[in-house]
Amino acid sequence: MSNIEQTLSIIKPDAVERNLIDEIKKIFTDNKLIVKESKKIHITKDEAAEFYKVHQSKPFYNDLCLYLSSGPIVVMVLEGENAVAANRKLMGATNPKEAEENTIRNLFGLSIDKNSVHGSDSLENAKKEINFFFNN
Ligand code: CDP
Ligand code: MG
Repeated sequence: MSNIEQTLSIIKPDAVERNLIDEIKKIFTDNKLIVKESKKIHITKDEAAEFYKVHQSKPFYNDLCLYLSSGPIVVMVLEGENAVAANRKLMGATNPKEAEENTIRNLFGLSIDKNSVHGSDSLENAKKEINFFFNN
């Protein structure tokens, strides 16, 4: 049975800075994920802190919020069959050194913090994260 989902993807500052937007979008579309919405924005540290609230107790939280607000990002709604899991598979592991070959983080990630992309980790979080950036 078909299971069409939507998920949130973010191209992080390190990848926007290196002009990787089109290359990363092509990986999604080549793998049957449609880019339904896309906008380039520059968020504040407070907005990043709200977005990454689930990580507020982690030692990397402050740096993570500073980083996500350090330059332009591209936020996207991806749609397709099992989109949440499909996007996570295309992204690869959080640490680019551990990311499977040809995943986005393997190809483009610079380090565990500058790992080029964000992707929702569950359908429930996908809904919240899409609403966070596309709530009009
Ligand atoms: O992004 P992903 O869901 O794979 O990983 P996460 O565990 O939800 O962590 C969110 C983000 O925090 C990661 O993508 C990294 O950018 C950052 N992070 C970090 O800087 N240092 C860590 N030890 C773990 C995560
Ligand atoms: Mg996560």
